[in-house]
Amino acid sequence: MQISDIKTLLEELRQKATEAIATAENREKLEDLRIYYLGKKGQVSKILGAMGKLSPEERPKVGAIANEVKQAIQTNLDEKRSNLQALEIAAQLKAETVDVSMPGVHRSQGKIHPLNGLIDRALDIFVGLGYTISTGPELESDYYNFEALNTPPDHPARDMQDTFYLADGNLMRTHTSSVQIRYMEKHEPPIRVIAPGRVYRRDTVDATHAAVFHQIELLAVDEGLRFSDLKGTIKEFLRQIFGDLPIRFRASYFPFTEPSAEVDLEWNGKWLEVLGCGMVDPNVLQAVGYDPEKYTGFAAGFGVERFAMVLHQIDDIRRVYASDLRFLRQF
Ligand code: DAH
Repeated sequence: MQISDIKTLLEELRQKATEAIATAENREKLEDLRIYYLGKKGQVSKILGAMGKLSPEERPKVGAIANEVKQAIQTNLDEKRSNLQALEIAAQLKAETVDVSMPGVHRSQGKIHPLNGLIDRALDIFVGLGYTISTGPELESDYYNFEALNTPPDHPARDMQDTFYLADGNLMRTHTSSVQIRYMEKHEPPIRVIAPGRVYRRDTVDATHAAVFHQIELLAVDEGLRFSDLKGTIKEFLRQIFGDLPIRFRASYFPFTEPSAEVDLEWNGKWLEVLGCGMVDPNVLQAVGYDPEKYTGFAAGFGVERFAMVLHQIDDIRRVYASDLRFLRQF
């Protein structure tokens, strides 16, 4: 073989390699091409194998050309490799791009029910006034619900509250006033206590009555407490919840207080009774062993639902329990 033939072959090889490299689709194919052209048993080596037949003067010349071709192919491969790599990275980035303008998946968050929100607020206010929070059972005995509250079995006031009785003579408490007795039995005056809870009535359900509702009971017993202390406490509490809303104190009757009053707030263009209160009847103090000559007390029971109705101008108490999200989301 002539030196010119080898040169031609090498030139052709460079040409073919350049075309093949240009069209390689990925780095694996590129590696195959490198092995095919430049590998130990590759095409360039094969051509150089024929060099043995050349004269010693010709060999270095052919060697130089072969090196040049090798170098050119290698440069081609390197360039193509970095091009392919750049394309791969770009494709990966594109595939993994997060479109921050896409609408997200909405997860709605739970909120405090308006009734619980109101109870929390009321307790906060009274804790701020020095009151202690207490609770009692909803399933109650006749003694705590009525008798100790100056309401004996034949007392006409029992007609005021239609009661859910159990077969064993116990009952579902009709008011949180039962907690007054339970608390006083365990504590000595002076006391300031606030007791939230659920109560039960056999009332006909309508816009302002429910069979189950919530009350917050208030009781203070100390030396020298007067009706003006009761009135001041209630007014301050109502002011903190309702601001300057007009309120009306109205004389009333409860077996466990004397004198007694009810407080009305404006709702739906008329007055709505929201709480009962009064000076603790001496018989009640006596029932728990307090000395009525030494101590006086005042007490009150708030209707939480009615507070909510006035505060949020809710037209029907049943909405509060309907679990209608369109209603609840407004709070
Ligand atoms: N327990 C009464 C009711 O449910 C409300 C009440 C009135 C509570 C006067 C009191 C009070 O503590 O002193 O209708």
